[in-house]
Formats: sequence, C-alpha cells, structure tokens
Amino acid sequence: MHPILNVAIIAAKEAGEFIINELENVGQLKIEVKGRNDYVSEIDKIAEQIIIKAIRKYYPDHNILAEESGKHTTTSSFEWIIDPLDGTTNFLHQLPHFSISIAVKEKGKLMHGVIFDPSKNELFSASRGNGAKLNNYKIRVSGQKKLQNSLLATGFPYHDFDYVDAYLSSFKEFMLQTSGLRRAGSAALDLAYVACGRVDGFWEFNLKPWDIAAGALIVTEAGGIVTDFTGDDNFLKSGNIIAANPKMLQNMAKVISATVPKKLRL
Ligand code: IPD
Ligand code: CA
Ligand code: CA
Repeated sequence: MHPILNVAIIAAKEAGEFIINELENVGQLKIEVKGRNDYVSEIDKIAEQIIIKAIRKYYPDHNILAEESGKHTTTSSFEWIIDPLDGTTNFLHQLPHFSISIAVKEKGKLMHGVIFDPSKNELFSASRGNGAKLNNYKIRVSGQKKLQNSLLATGFPYHDFDYVDAYLSSFKEFMLQTSGLRRAGSAALDLAYVACGRVDGFWEFNLKPWDIAAGALIVTEAGGIVTDFTGDDNFLKSGNIIAANPKMLQNMAKVISATVPKKLRL
C-alpha cells in the first residue's frame, strides 16, 4: 500500500473512532448554524483536528483543504482534501450513516482516496492505478446498463434553493425511469456505494470538493466514470456530479441534459 494512503486510513479511522464514541452524547453537543439548514457541531471540528494532526505527523509540509478550518497553504505539490464528517445531519439525529472522507491530490491530480463509515466499519479506499477496495476486497461498479431496473442515489438541495426546480425535474424523470431512488445523506458514501455496485449511479447538484474528491477517485478506480453536468471532469469546481458505470452514465447524462437548464449545468 502507498504510504500516503496508509496515513489517510490511519487518520480516517482515528477520527471515525472519536465520532462513533460521541454518537451517544449528541444531545449535549454545541451546534452552530453555518447557514440555512447547514449545521456544524464541535465533533466535526475536533474530528478535523484529529485528521490534520495525523497528517502533519508524517507530512508537515503538505497543503490541506479542510471543510471546517479552510485552506492551510504551503509550497508542496500535495494537497489533502478533508471532510471530517460527511452526513452531519444524520449524525445529529443519531442516524448511523455518515463518513469521513479524505483525498490526496498531487500536482492537481487525485491520487488517493479514503471514505470510512465508522458505524458499519466499512473502509473504501483507492490509489490511482491500483483499483478500489472495500476493506480488503476489490470492488467494481455495477454492470447495470439501463435506467429501467436501476437503483440510483442522490442528494436533495437543502440550503441553496435556486436549484430546487431543476433538481425536481431531474428527480421526477429519474423516478419515472428507474426502479428506485435513495437519499441516504452522505455524498461520500453515495459515491462509495456506486463504486461497490450497491447503487447503479449517483447525481447531485452544488457539492463541495471535500464531499466528492475521495469518492470520485474510488469510483473511477472501481471502473466507473465521474463527470460534471456538461460531460467534463470539472465536478470538483462546479460541484455538479454524475457517477456511474460508463453506459449508465450516458443514460443519466441524457436525463440531466433534458431536464436541467443549460445555465445550471455549468
Ligand atoms: C452533506 C452530505 C449530503 C449532501 C450535502 C452535503 P455535510 O455534507 O454529503 O449528503 O447532500 O450536499 O453538504 O454537510 O454533512 O458534510
Ligand atoms: Ca460533506
Ligand atoms: Ca462535513
């Protein structure tokens, strides 16, 4: 295993253990509101510090982009992208479906990704060129080719409501054409589930790089494709993302083009 991936796994597991131990204390937590329906607890912040400390022990000079503390800029060609708790709303409701997501870029290219679900003890990981794993087993995207019979994951807009109408048009079409849609509440785990074939595809609008960086690499290393809504690979910037196996992605992209106005696809 690549040493950087190893450190990412150590960091994700340390944070995961902390978060899971705090699940029973949710009622006593200090919770801040970052924006409409956008919550952060002291747990998100402490988990992030645990991850940064673990990284700094081995790589004191790497860049870090972390959801709660922002950018820690250096001159290194490496950048760690961290979501210390993806699925905070689930966590705050003691709904055990959330994750820690850590990605590493080198010279702007995604090289390593880890997503850890501490409630199920599931660790999804990938390094570029080495395939993707769930715990110690290799994983692959599903072989489902048609929307009909497929199960898709998605996330609802919940703070930027400019996207609601466009989102609902795509949602309606996917609802009519597939056999089911799931909104589980952690974009990182949605991508991990695409990678291991539990769902056949995922789409969401307006995400942040820390929600999707690790998952995007894990999906591609599992044989899938990840694009933005224009068919390009600009999803970390635009935040609009489709992930699936190649044939399913084509079918999903057609639905997005037909239902989402061009200006919201960029
Ligand atoms: C959120 C989750 C959710 C997605 C949101 C994200 P957070 O991340 O990934 O599934 O729908 O858009 O912001 O705030 O829990 O880290
Ligand atoms: Ca997130
Ligand atoms: Ca988060």
